[in-house]
Amino acid sequence: MRDKTFPLEPIEKASIDELRSLQLKRLQSTLQHAYAHSPVYRAKFDAAGVHPNDCQSLSDLAKFPFTTKADLRDSYPFGMFAVPRAQCARIHASSGTTGKPTVVGYTLKDIDTWATVVARSIRAGGARPGDMVHVSYGYGLFTGGLGAHYGAEKIGLTVVPFGGGQTERQVQLIQDFQSNIIMVTPSYMLAIADEYERQGIDPKSSPLRIGIFGAEPWTNDMRVAIEKRMGIDAVDIYGLSEVMGPGVASECIETKDGPTIWEDHFYPEIIHPETGEPVQDGEMGELVFTSLTKEALPIIRYRTRDLTRLLPGTARTMRRMEKITGRSDDMMIIRGVNVFPSQIEELILKRPELAPHYQCVLTREGPMDNLKVVVETCAGMGQDSIEARAAAKLLQHEIKVYIGSSVEIELRAEGGVERSQGKAKRVVDLRGK
Ligand code: DLL
Repeated sequence: MRDKTFPLEPIEKASIDELRSLQLKRLQSTLQHAYAHSPVYRAKFDAAGVHPNDCQSLSDLAKFPFTTKADLRDSYPFGMFAVPRAQCARIHASSGTTGKPTVVGYTLKDIDTWATVVARSIRAGGARPGDMVHVSYGYGLFTGGLGAHYGAEKIGLTVVPFGGGQTERQVQLIQDFQSNIIMVTPSYMLAIADEYERQGIDPKSSPLRIGIFGAEPWTNDMRVAIEKRMGIDAVDIYGLSEVMGPGVASECIETKDGPTIWEDHFYPEIIHPETGEPVQDGEMGELVFTSLTKEALPIIRYRTRDLTRLLPGTARTMRRMEKITGRSDDMMIIRGVNVFPSQIEELILKRPELAPHYQCVLTREGPMDNLKVVVETCAGMGQDSIEARAAAKLLQHEIKVYIGSSVEIELRAEGGVERSQGKAKRVVDLRGK
């Protein structure tokens, strides 16, 4: 019987006062470090007329300028680093959709901090001593694979560094090695579940007990669907390369109520996306992060473009973020109505005739933007069957009623929507093509 659990770190049990005073100390030294060692930050602070000494309380952070992806791109590749390149132990980069990648760097201490927060995330997700972790996040420049890997090793678990792709073999090794935990994007989990079925194995009979899913938005309905299908507990891990990688925040298995932000390393703010003004906890807006302990690339008020709100702690004293269901870049505006793919996902998951494999295709006819939802029917149901067509009609109706948009639905048979092996592409924009 493996009923032992890993103990929490003392800071996870600290009082809010202790946490806030640690944060202020770390924030002040991060601002000093950035100003002293990164010419880009120095120029930005000078231009805004602020100096690190102006930060006497956590709310003073609002006086400092934001950092955006463009700042990182403009200083490509290492211009924002606050240590000489030779002191970096590792470089990661995100490909992005256009132009140069965004490059980030880590000292050995940063790598250790990162492993600590991912280890904490895996523990919060319900890992037990002796567990084996199958990592299907991509290895390489993407932070998912190596980030998960170092965290799982740090907490003392056995890691299977599979990476993305080769879905047939993923299933075989999970079965043969008897892995207990999988770390993967939720959309690729669905592809692995499909492969289980294709091989005639009931996914519920897999040795997996826990899935730690992230790197893309996914809804609570998707959680329920994956948990039922795989017979596992599914928790949400959040992060972004500019701030660190996976493990900036992660969900606790006992509450599953949105990722707890590891606030001793990453200070969160929510701002109004247009005015940039900070809003109160509980109010929706754009998530902004400031690193509190990073050496190679301190990140000050980084605008994530992720939309969420801050919630009080539950399983831990640290605050939570509401599960992210949209990025401002993924927001589609269809004849004046704002639509997020996650809203459509929720409605698809209500229809048992449909599978949760979908894409939103945007086209333009004259001045009008049109949205077509391409969605698969469930396994074994023809796309022309009466049931499937009735489900499509209902989906169309519900999108009109609940979201307010008239959309077209295109049904495809099983396998008709491209499977992701990493982050799913939910929006296909054909406007102007
Ligand atoms: O996706 C890091 C990561 C890897 C997180 C593995 C979790 C697991 P980037 O490629 O820089 O880094 O992409 C960051 O992905 O701003 C969000 O929009 C989105 N994202 C990441 N995790 C979640 C999540 C990694 N749990 C961007 N829920 C972020 C929703 C997420 N969106």
